[in-house]
Amino acid sequence: MIIVNTIQEIRNYVREQRAQGHTIGFVPSMGYLHEGHQSLLRASKERCQTTVMSIFVNPLQFGPNEDFDRYPRDLERDAKLAEAAGADIIFAPSVDEMYPRGNGQVLTHVDVEEVTLQLCGASRPGHFRGVSTVVSKLFNIVQPDQAFFGMKDAQQVAVLQTMVDDLNIPVEIVPCPIVREPDGLAMSSRNVFLTPEERQQALVLSQALQQAEQLVQAGARDVHQIKEAVRDMIQSQPLADIDYVELLNFRDLSPILSLEQPALLALAVRFGKTRLIDNTVLTID
Ligand code: PAJ
Repeated sequence: MIIVNTIQEIRNYVREQRAQGHTIGFVPSMGYLHEGHQSLLRASKERCQTTVMSIFVNPLQFGPNEDFDRYPRDLERDAKLAEAAGADIIFAPSVDEMYPRGNGQVLTHVDVEEVTLQLCGASRPGHFRGVSTVVSKLFNIVQPDQAFFGMKDAQQVAVLQTMVDDLNIPVEIVPCPIVREPDGLAMSSRNVFLTPEERQQALVLSQALQQAEQLVQAGARDVHQIKEAVRDMIQSQPLADIDYVELLNFRDLSPILSLEQPALLALAVRFGKTRLIDNTVLTID
């Protein structure tokens, strides 16, 4: 597996692969890889002949009081995990390579409206602007046929699908299932920040989502009632500080009162300094 740091090198590599008739799969990431990222690489490997992974902690998507500086980074470890899961090349640019104007600055942004108003878009102002801007830059640099994203960040999938549709970007967005620890906690690069006690209490997130799935199976349709049940269960853990619990239309993330279509039950909860997100798509059989 190859590691390159410049836009010129990754462009040359992709050009060569295309000349050989290869399709290009792309997995954008911020590194500190785990099984969730590896599942995306495997999905790409299955569907495309060449798999490119980017590793770039994007300053543009972090708020001024967020964890950009302390976000975990370990390129050497990442390279081993990426290679094991089938990556052919890692593109790991510096901040200056991606943002030559300095300080993570660009004068042109991609702003996706409406689907960014709720959930993490509401609690992290500017976050999705940073995500859609960097992902459109990465799409222009790599020009993949297919790009693989985890449903762990369901709103990110909705935002990027909207961006690609609205701007006619010629890439297929492939959503992939959430990968969990054996005890149910959704894998996340930020899980390393949890103290043992927080880690234990954070299990309530996947348990609360499961409880909601069971309520729906048993016939619950009232959105308020389902959300309250989830809130109550999470609040039973003293270290849990709820940012949001929302139940929205899955495609356009618009509000719903009654569960009539596939809907996204999404939550964000702080444990100490660490903010965790999780979700499930509720379907009615
Ligand atoms: P990052 O948080 O590193 O995630 C990279 C990809 O891995 C995303 O598509 C994310 O949804 C997926 N992922 C993370 N945890 C997962 C899990 N437990 N199961 C399945 N997939 C999981 O998301 C970003 O980086 C950035 O916003 C990025 C798109 C790279 C733009 O900077």
